[in-house]
Amino acid sequence: MCGIVGYIGKNEIKEILLNGLKELEYRGYDSAGIAVLQDRELSTFKAVGKIINLENKLKDFSTQGFGIGIGHTRWATHGKPTEANAHPHIAEFSNVVHNGIIENYQEIKEMLQAKGHHFLSQTDTEVIVHLFEENLKNCDDSFKAFKKTIDTIKGAYAILLISKKDSTKIFYAKNGSPLIIARGEGGIYFASSDAPLIGLAQEVVYLEDGDIGFMQEGDFDKLQNIQPLNINKSFAQKDGYRYFMEKEIYEQHSVLLETMMGRVSEDRIALENLDRDFFEGIESITICACGTSYHSAMVGKYLLERFAKIRVNVVIASEFRYADFVIKENELFITISQSGETADTLEALKLVKKHHLKTLAICNVDNSSIVRESDRVILTRVGIEKGVASTKAFASQVLVLWMLGVFIAQEKKLINAQEIKEQAQAMLKATKATKVDSKLHERIKRLSKRYLHGHGFFFIGRDVFFPLALEGALKLKEISYLHAEGYASGEMKHGPIALADSHLFTIALMPEHLLFEKIKSNIEELSARDATICVISSQECEVADDMIFIPKASSYMEEFFSMMVALQILALEIAIKLGNDVDMPRNLAKSVTVE
Ligand code: G6P
Repeated sequence: MCGIVGYIGKNEIKEILLNGLKELEYRGYDSAGIAVLQDRELSTFKAVGKIINLENKLKDFSTQGFGIGIGHTRWATHGKPTEANAHPHIAEFSNVVHNGIIENYQEIKEMLQAKGHHFLSQTDTEVIVHLFEENLKNCDDSFKAFKKTIDTIKGAYAILLISKKDSTKIFYAKNGSPLIIARGEGGIYFASSDAPLIGLAQEVVYLEDGDIGFMQEGDFDKLQNIQPLNINKSFAQKDGYRYFMEKEIYEQHSVLLETMMGRVSEDRIALENLDRDFFEGIESITICACGTSYHSAMVGKYLLERFAKIRVNVVIASEFRYADFVIKENELFITISQSGETADTLEALKLVKKHHLKTLAICNVDNSSIVRESDRVILTRVGIEKGVASTKAFASQVLVLWMLGVFIAQEKKLINAQEIKEQAQAMLKATKATKVDSKLHERIKRLSKRYLHGHGFFFIGRDVFFPLALEGALKLKEISYLHAEGYASGEMKHGPIALADSHLFTIALMPEHLLFEKIKSNIEELSARDATICVISSQECEVADDMIFIPKASSYMEEFFSMMVALQILALEIAIKLGNDVDMPRNLAKSVTVE
């Protein structure tokens, strides 16, 4: 979603804000802006489109000496992506940037309009800065006016506000959207995630919901819970790959080893912070997630039911929140989230906490809101994922769910030592199967040019390969903008097959070790209707028009991970051939921190 940065210090403010926004650009990128306050001069700049447009606008602007500044990169929620709707939003003498949604903005706007305030944008955010200035009319303490403003607004927010009336302070407030304050040699920094802070700051404070205050030079020590920031910058760079997504596909085999490190050994699965007691009395599991994480949750259902013999219910977070589903007392609530900040997942988690359920997060970002809200956590440990289309995070989530299934089975004594050993070996092989073979990549690249047209794609599979088919279709949709759907292959005959003709491309997942013959019959039904079929398998399939061969494997999960990589590369190469920006696909955002 949107990204926020802020700075108080003596270095070049424009550079710091722009560099920070570039680190956050993957979160939302339909417009961007900054505001700089120096010597009581407030300068605001905005541009539609990517940060480079803002940078071009700022060519002749620079700062020297002490000052403060705020910046924002936007992903439209209220109002079109225009310059007027871009942040910072402006009133007479103050500027504000905001992530989230102000639910009661309409009534505040009407009240302020009645008092003569004039609004320039269609956004909810603009009311904050006008309300602040209105409150300041009746009081001479700007923090009091800011606090009164925050007390009035309802919704989710991370807010930074600056004002000529108090020109050395940045006012901040957080509720439901992430916000970090940090200190480095150059001064005090604000950001909505760690990424812009790497290399600049050494100490950070992750603000909590309800936190409100202001910072000025030398104020950092008044904060509580100061922590060191230990993240390596090299993770956040492309390492010579064309796109972050490509780099992230290629690094899966090494980061998945990190996911397993210290957790999987020959004779045992050990998950830190989890023991038999935690699962004592648990009769069922609900897994809640969005997007790609929801697909890994679906894979998790198959694996957990198979190994741990527990009934698993999988829910989309945005559905769960308002459906009044029955919540049982002896249920474990698992959330899966790459970012740990997805608003729907976070709110679903908060909801079940009111029912006192045990909660477990599977997450990639330590200290994220979902991690902090959960009783226990299994970190996926794959490093920063920048490509909007999630790849390595999905792989690690599936691996964690597999480990969790075997772990619960081990603790409940449902599997013996030999079976644990076999699963541990299978996990290691599955991880190795994600190492990209350059010949496979080349083959998919050549093949991709045949799949740039047509009226749509079906991705089909059975069992865990059904959610993998959903994920393959989602990857393609996200970055190629082609129409793609995933189906359980047995469902084709119940409707979707009506679409079959030679311009319908079917990508069929055919694992040798799981229901090969069953999927083959489904493919024959499609072939009889002239559909163009591309099979991914280690086995030749006569009815296929095209084959993508994966190496022979010893388990279906090893095949799962090989096929996952093939699907990721297929989507990548099709999108590149179509000339799309793979890392920043249109209309999408990496982290969706609004409902
Ligand atoms: C956004 C991203 C998806 C992601 C989903 C859930 O829509 O574009 O790639 O799967 O959010 O994100 P999470 O961080 O909770 O896994």
